[in-house]
Amino acid sequence: MVMLASCHVPVMLDETMQALAVQPGGRYIDCTLGGGGHAAAIVERSSPGGQLLGIEADPEALKVAEGRLAPYKNSTLLVNDNFVNLVNVAIRYDFMPVHGILFDLGLSTLQLESRRGFSFLTDAPLDMRVSPNQELTAADIVNSLSESALANLLWRCGQETDSRRIAHRIVQLRPILTTGELVRAVEEAVLGRHGKIHPATRTFQALRIAVNHELENLSSALTQAVELLGYDGRLVVLSYHSLEDRIVKQFMQREARGCICPPGLPECVCGHRPTLHVINKKVITPTPEELKSNPRARSAKLRAAERIITPDGYQKKTEESPESPNWEGSGWRRPETLMRLRVAFSSFYLS
Ligand SMILES: C[S@@+](CC[C@H](N)C(=O)[O-])C[C@H]1O[C@@H](n2cnc3c(N)ncnc32)[C@H](O)[C@@H]1O
Repeated sequence: MVMLASCHVPVMLDETMQALAVQPGGRYIDCTLGGGGHAAAIVERSSPGGQLLGIEADPEALKVAEGRLAPYKNSTLLVNDNFVNLVNVAIRYDFMPVHGILFDLGLSTLQLESRRGFSFLTDAPLDMRVSPNQELTAADIVNSLSESALANLLWRCGQETDSRRIAHRIVQLRPILTTGELVRAVEEAVLGRHGKIHPATRTFQALRIAVNHELENLSSALTQAVELLGYDGRLVVLSYHSLEDRIVKQFMQREARGCICPPGLPECVCGHRPTLHVINKKVITPTPEELKSNPRARSAKLRAAERIITPDGYQKKTEESPESPNWEGSGWRRPETLMRLRVAFSSFYLS
């Protein structure tokens, strides 16, 4: 297991640590533990006194991370859960406020090389579930959606321009139970007209996103992450395709703005206040040296932002408002702060 974990090389490691501004004694959440590469670096750089809460939806990946992080047992807490439950997990383990939260989205090399249906390069059952607790597999979707719904999905989640043609061929060939059968259906549909990337790339991306609710979960988790950051805490996200990156970019831009009312209203009715300051206006991408040694990093994009209000909602002292009240206050243990979080994000297993 540990040998396989070493196959996943953490992407933009130095840039990520810098963006998180990891400091000794800090508390951090890694929402996508994977092989534990970023997590190990966080623990080392936050020593002495640092703490890490690691979340991982895939129990197999969690085992790998547990092996890698075994030397740091006293400063890590590793949890098998989906990051869509971020606030619940943090409340359950009383792990807040935090200095930084990391999302390194997508899949690890270990998962891509497994026989779980994520890759069009390996013939395997058409599964694609990150966690075995999820009900729907990629085969369920491919074999049950109507042709038009399937085409819409390939377009919406894969930006597949041949979506109609591919959906049509899939429906003709159903049932499709393996990745090999799906690849053949796509290849027959597009007949080699697919440029530089493998013709099945976008179809596989679309199905994986749908099976794992990737876009909805990301949107929800970003909102939750901001709630868990302390004043000056950092939110860092590594994404690997444009749909994810757009969500992250728009979320950070929106949280950095004041009023978000639709244009044309005579006065503000939203009452929205900025909660984040975007640290890197221009997206950060891997260096040519990193790309040479780790081609998997090629589509990576890093965005980072800093929380600019205290947990009790006070604005950071700025040039415009030098008298901001009590901006160093914590506010985390106040019952009303906890209650607000519970009401906003609670689920059935909260007491
Ligand atoms: C790119 S890998 C992370 C690699 C890790 N940063 C490292 O250095 O080893 C992404 C991981 O996030 C996990 N993951 C994906 N979606 C998740 C979710 N919604 N909740 C929790 N974990 C998730 C995947 O199972 C995978 O192990």
